[in-house]
Amino acid sequence: MDDLMDAAREAVEASYAPYSEYRVGAAIETVDGTVYTGCNIENANYSNSLHAEEVAIGSAVRDGHREFVRLAVSSDKRDGVTPCGMCRQTLAEFCDDDLPIYTDGEAGAEYTLGELLPTTITPGHLDR
Ligand code: THU
Ligand code: ZN
Repeated sequence: MDDLMDAAREAVEASYAPYSEYRVGAAIETVDGTVYTGCNIENANYSNSLHAEEVAIGSAVRDGHREFVRLAVSSDKRDGVTPCGMCRQTLAEFCDDDLPIYTDGEAGAEYTLGELLPTTITPGHLDR
């Protein structure tokens, strides 16, 4: 877990968050052990802002990865930030309910995606 959290902390350094001043980094590990990172990238049109988790998973999917085994999220405040609702849904498109999600903080916490977003809409719901 520590290596993945270190990667998330390093990604915080690239955060562009001049509006909220809340800097977030995320690191996601693919099934083959590759780690992709992302940071939040804000915009003067606030709603265009990208979240760290979506940048990380988007980069991985762009490179052809669709299976993930772990996610770590950090903020420079190390306050236990978790993926927001939108990011949880984005993760659920590609990740199983048992995906471990590590959050940064004094004690640190570990959740599963299923705990954070139960009874999710998934690609299976759209099968005809
Ligand atoms: N943020 C993330 O990057 N990931 C989340 O899931 C929680 C929120 C960012 C968005 C915004 O730039 C800042 O944190 C404050 O909400
Ligand atoms: Zn989010």
